Amino acid sequence: MSNSIVAGNWKMNGTITESLRLVSDMKDELHRIQGVTKILFPPAVALGSLANLVYASSIELGAQNMHYQPSGAFTGEISASMVKENCSWVLLGHSERRLFFHETDDDISQKLLAAVANNIKPILCIGENLGDRESGKTQQVIQEQVSKATSALQTISNLTIAYEPVWAIGTGKAATIDIIEETLGTLRSFLTSEWGDAGAKAPLMYGGSVNESNATIFGESEYIAGLLVGGASLDATAFVSLTRQFAAAKSS
Ligand code: 13P
Repeated sequence: MSNSIVAGNWKMNGTITESLRLVSDMKDELHRIQGVTKILFPPAVALGSLANLVYASSIELGAQNMHYQPSGAFTGEISASMVKENCSWVLLGHSERRLFFHETDDDISQKLLAAVANNIKPILCIGENLGDRESGKTQQVIQEQVSKATSALQTISNLTIAYEPVWAIGTGKAATIDIIEETLGTLRSFLTSEWGDAGAKAPLMYGGSVNESNATIFGESEYIAGLLVGGASLDATAFVSLTRQFAAAKSS
């Protein structure tokens, strides 16, 4: 795995047929971009078909969510072993899951534990909403999210964290580089003091209105190890282009 990551979170977009088409449209070019780990998070129903399509390519797959119980009466949910059949990553704690599905920090903590126990690489999503930011609570909110989510872990050596300010998601208004660097810098100090070496090394990503026009700027920042892309990951040309830009900025 490279230290840099570009991930596409498709959210609830695309049938299996559409997913296959989208990946076919980006696969070869994405595969050729080196120096960056490329992960797609399609809807769970498409994972099996896509696993065949990206087999033997450098494109990795992940699930957008999973339940922490190994099996049982949890209608509509998927477990770690189901995720593992087709992919090696999972997104946990996305703000849309927290908001629309009332996921709590405790749920997320148990999911993280289940992911790690099953050797699935988790990307923990955190971020403040506009009210938190305007009242100066950003750092407090995200440190609380991280502390609670990781409370059951022995180490965070396999954890990647994606900072996604809620006000920047789907709005076309990405956070400025100053805001991101200030937030990630303070988060890094916090992680290091809590977790030592593992905290100093945990990859930190940024997400929220990432596109072809800002990927280079983000790639030039030493604070940002990766990008978590929503809308722009649904456009093959845009996603390949921003991935290429990010990889180029990281390698220069
Ligand atoms: P957008 O890139 O559409 O703002 O979405 C970001 C996101 O939520 C990725 O998880």
